[in-house]
Amino acid sequence: MSAVEKAQSFVADWRSFPFTVALSGASVAADHVSVAWADGRVSPCHFFWLRDSCPCTECVHAGTREQIFEVQDAPADLHATWVEVDADGQLQVQWSDGHASAYGPGWLRAHVYDDASRLERQAAQRTVRPWLQDLQIASFEYDAVMKDDSVLLAWLHAARDQGLTRIVGMPDDEDVVSTVARRISFLRETNFGVLWEVRTKVEEVNSNAYTALELPHHTDLPTREQQPGLQFLHCLINDATGGDSTFVDGFSIARALREEAPEAFALLSQYAVEFRNKASTSDYRALAPIIGLDARGEVSEVRVANWLRAPFDLPAAQMPAYYAAYRQFSVLTRDPRFIVRRRLEAGQMWCFDNRRTLHARQAFDPASGLRFLRGCYLDRDELLSRIRVLERTVCASPVARFA
Ligand code: OGA
Ligand code: ZN
Ligand code: ZN
Repeated sequence: MSAVEKAQSFVADWRSFPFTVALSGASVAADHVSVAWADGRVSPCHFFWLRDSCPCTECVHAGTREQIFEVQDAPADLHATWVEVDADGQLQVQWSDGHASAYGPGWLRAHVYDDASRLERQAAQRTVRPWLQDLQIASFEYDAVMKDDSVLLAWLHAARDQGLTRIVGMPDDEDVVSTVARRISFLRETNFGVLWEVRTKVEEVNSNAYTALELPHHTDLPTREQQPGLQFLHCLINDATGGDSTFVDGFSIARALREEAPEAFALLSQYAVEFRNKASTSDYRALAPIIGLDARGEVSEVRVANWLRAPFDLPAAQMPAYYAAYRQFSVLTRDPRFIVRRRLEAGQMWCFDNRRTLHARQAFDPASGLRFLRGCYLDRDELLSRIRVLERTVCASPVARFA
């Protein structure tokens, strides 16, 4: 192993950080080490940040790759006494408390926080592609997903970025929806079971889903602190008249609202609404805004199910404006420019981001034939973890067909 590989293998991570740009120099400034790159970029690395990132085996456990060093144990006046880019291209740092650190250029370039590097990183992380009614739904073969990791990865990328995918060629087996979901990871069990079914029930109906009624656009389980991330819906029988699936991209609708009615967007993202799911033996409630924002102010989820909504509880002065905003958002979920309509046939499965893609079902005629779906959920964390691990070894190939 070369010195560079050795230094890079000690970083507190399982990923590798390929060498992209060489370090051209380094110098010590008042409160940071200034690092210069061969492409002209200059990155300040503040003393505590750099010391906190030391990848040596004294600071990071070589087995777990988790940090042992705690930054509060360094002296308050910690500073670098000497820096150098060595013959292997690594940054060498000597610290005032006697510690020495070495940083590989690949790791350093992937983590420095000058403005240009942060913008570059944020752009690379922004993989979501919003869509409208002309979406080409990425479609994958069951057999290929089960056998080929590169097809699996392509499917998972589509689920993450597009938020709506279809699997075709599913075996005629009531439990196979969990086989394909477990190809990703653990399932999310709920009071509806690990696996649940959608069919018209005459006995103890505990959800509008189990009637033949139209279900307007919604996310499942907005009644939970965290809505399930991925939803799987496998169609075993669809002989009834009606019952087509429709979808809208909640991120596209939120984006349109933000542009067309910013005050409405602000109300829906700032005020929390309660969603309730009450049954004889359970009572789930969650209080959260209809449009959820992440720490950067970007839309990270939508939470919608009109029939599970409690009465709005808002300051009286805001009630009229909030209703106007809610109605405006809901009108957009019926706007044809956003709606993708498809019929799910027996042997096919939808897999979509339940915190982003709103789904709906048209009413159907239960007297005209049977309709039977099986479904399950899995959290976004599981999807993203599986993608990252697959990306360590697999290169995704373009294997989707579009429907
Ligand atoms: C549901 C649901 C879709 C369908 O059960 O929540 O959205 O096509 N069902 O029946
Ligand atoms: Zn160290
Ligand atoms: Zn649903």
